[in-house]
Amino acid sequence: MVTGAAGHLGRLVAEQLLERLAPEQVVLVTRRPEALRELRARGAEVRYGDFDDPASLRDAFAGGRRMLLISTDALGRRAGQHRAAIDAAATAGVRHVVFTSIVKPVASNPTGALAAEPGVTEAMLHRSGLAWTVLRFGSFAELVLPPAATAVQNRRLVTNNGGGRIVFVSRRDCAEAAAITLTTDGHAGKTYEITGTEALSVQDLAELYGDLSGQPVKVLQLSDAMLTNVLVGIGTPMPSAWRIAAFGRAVRRGYFDVVDPAFERLTGRPPVALRDVLVAQRADLLAVG
Ligand SMILES: NC(=O)c1ccc[n+]([C@@H]2O[C@H](COP(=O)([O-])OP(=O)(O)OC[C@H]3O[C@@H](n4cnc5c(N)ncnc54)[C@H](OP(=O)(O)O)[C@@H]3O)[C@@H](O)[C@H]2O)c1
Repeated sequence: MVTGAAGHLGRLVAEQLLERLAPEQVVLVTRRPEALRELRARGAEVRYGDFDDPASLRDAFAGGRRMLLISTDALGRRAGQHRAAIDAAATAGVRHVVFTSIVKPVASNPTGALAAEPGVTEAMLHRSGLAWTVLRFGSFAELVLPPAATAVQNRRLVTNNGGGRIVFVSRRDCAEAAAITLTTDGHAGKTYEITGTEALSVQDLAELYGDLSGQPVKVLQLSDAMLTNVLVGIGTPMPSAWRIAAFGRAVRRGYFDVVDPAFERLTGRPPVALRDVLVAQRADLLAVG
């Protein structure tokens, strides 16, 4: 069973499960069942379920044995949503919950709720009485495309990351790790850091963008306050500008500098590098300007 199955990650996990299981063994729970018509046509069972509507979860989770709980995108409300999902899973008789977390999910992380809520959810799972597995993902490589395209267009990478490093991982690799932990034994009580093989500095990123675009990209380091002002100055709403600056602060302080071999141990192959994710999107990377 996969919650949030119509999201980017959820669909990739669903595809992976359909490669590993008979379709009737796969239950996809989503707020948007109509978005999963194609997967239903391939034999998966698609059910309506919304963590904000706990009553919907009774039917949605009925009969499920192993469940991937995909963290929602409702920043600031996720602890309550995830609690509703874990409680409903326990009531429905689900035996094992795999949860999608983030590297270093601690309250001291400057990104605030982004990291704190997954940490709180991990603690809930530990106390739930259910078997659990936690997958702590690095930063999704696919999300680099918009800032990378902007840097290529401006030939300048504006940042407050300082000397910090970020570890990336593709959603596809995250989905494969999730499908493996759902469909094979031996993962109960384990926390896996699902990351790429290296954490990249902002200088590494600028060199990568320059290499892929054929134009040099320079790094411009700003303070948190300056970056926030620049972002607001170009029309970014204040809360978003503040979140972007907080992310950079977290990078600077080492909260995304985690490299772990768990992915290769689980899958038997190395994770896809950020370079390859961007090469696959090269047309979009170079389309702006
Ligand atoms: N590691 C990273 O870099 C990174 C980056 C961004 C996000 N994330 C986290 O990873 C999750 C999956 O990423 P993604 O790229 O697939 O995100 P996405 O495409 O934006 O999808 C959002 C997800 O949240 C689910 N959701 C939202 N509200 C819900 C509710 N009330 N009840 C149940 N599910 C709800 C959606 O499920 P349905 O639409 O199917 O109901 C969907 O799976 C995100 O939600 C976020 O928590 C991680």
